[in-house]
Amino acid sequence: MKVLVTGAAGFIGSNLAEKLARRGDDVVGLDNFNDYYDPAKKRANEARLNAYPNFKMAEMDIRDREGMFALFEAEQFDAVAHLAAMAGVRNAVKHPDLYVEVDLNGTQHLMDAARAAGSVGNFVFASTSSVYGNTKQIPFVETDPCDRPLQPYAAAKRASEILGYSYHYLFDFNFTVLRFFTVYGPNGRPDMMAYLVAESITKGIEIPLYDGGQMYRDWTFVEDITDGIVLALERPLGYEIINLGRGNPTLLKDFVEMLEDLAGRKANLVSKPRMSADFVMNEADISKARRLLGYDPQVSTEEGVRRFWEWYSEVVMRDA
Ligand SMILES: NC(=O)c1ccc[n+]([C@@H]2O[C@H](COP(=O)([O-])OP(=O)(O)OC[C@H]3O[C@@H](n4cnc5c(N)ncnc54)[C@H](O)[C@@H]3O)[C@@H](O)[C@H]2O)c1
Repeated sequence: MKVLVTGAAGFIGSNLAEKLARRGDDVVGLDNFNDYYDPAKKRANEARLNAYPNFKMAEMDIRDREGMFALFEAEQFDAVAHLAAMAGVRNAVKHPDLYVEVDLNGTQHLMDAARAAGSVGNFVFASTSSVYGNTKQIPFVETDPCDRPLQPYAAAKRASEILGYSYHYLFDFNFTVLRFFTVYGPNGRPDMMAYLVAESITKGIEIPLYDGGQMYRDWTFVEDITDGIVLALERPLGYEIINLGRGNPTLLKDFVEMLEDLAGRKANLVSKPRMSADFVMNEADISKARRLLGYDPQVSTEEGVRRFWEWYSEVVMRDA
């Protein structure tokens, strides 16, 4: 299969591109290497991927509509895993225009380019559990209307999900939405909690712990997420929205303690009130993913935290 992985220099995208390249798919990665976090981390991911002869990187911006048309025309992809995005809830509150440009308009450019090229049989879109906002339906289930997003990141992702339906309806476009739940693991994003806690433990940096860590997150190990994306890439489903989580949430406070126990040191945490853009509870109902994709997450939180810490202490601390 010839696959375009957008956001391939990022956390989940690089893990996905490597999984596909390792099993022999023809993989084109796309990324603009922006500086939302240290681009050196993205270059390191790219270098890892460049070791595979069946991988190549297109350094491009998904806001470049003409560029997207030219790329799709030239490469004739069979499938697209669209992960490029401005992620980060708090940053979205500061830059709502950027989030709409990249996460909604950029997605539309890719969909139009895919349609024009005519080769793409399946388009898989990375969405987020943030679209559930402060829903009262727990665990989060795909039938929830999700029409009250708490910030522009979630709003732009939800808008793209809905636009995908129109394209499916009008043009018979296969569009699968995967809503990821709090992903963590090797090559993790430095602005996310797992990485921040590790930094705090090793460097003593003060970090905020919202609500004293009294919030549940459905932590999902990146290997499980990339397995789910591969399953979705292999199965065009018309139009579906599917949660990809672990379905077994852990208190943030307990997650932090697992890392502290492994490190044998405490993090420097300062309790702060929860931001209004953040939700209290996050728990996936993954029965649809099990039924439609055969998705079956394998990595417990204890095991995932151990593997994350192993990576952080071996790779991040070595490169520091
Ligand atoms: N990490 C999570 O817990 C999580 C949860 C829910 C959803 N997601 C979604 O999964 C996807 C991947 O997230 P991630 O955590 O790997 O984030 P990431 O920031 O590490 O990866 C996103 C990549 O997209 C690239 N990118 C951003 N804007 C671009 C543009 N205009 N053109 C080309 N490339 C661009 C970035 O440079 C980055 O490498 C995103 O769509 C995100 O919204 C992530």
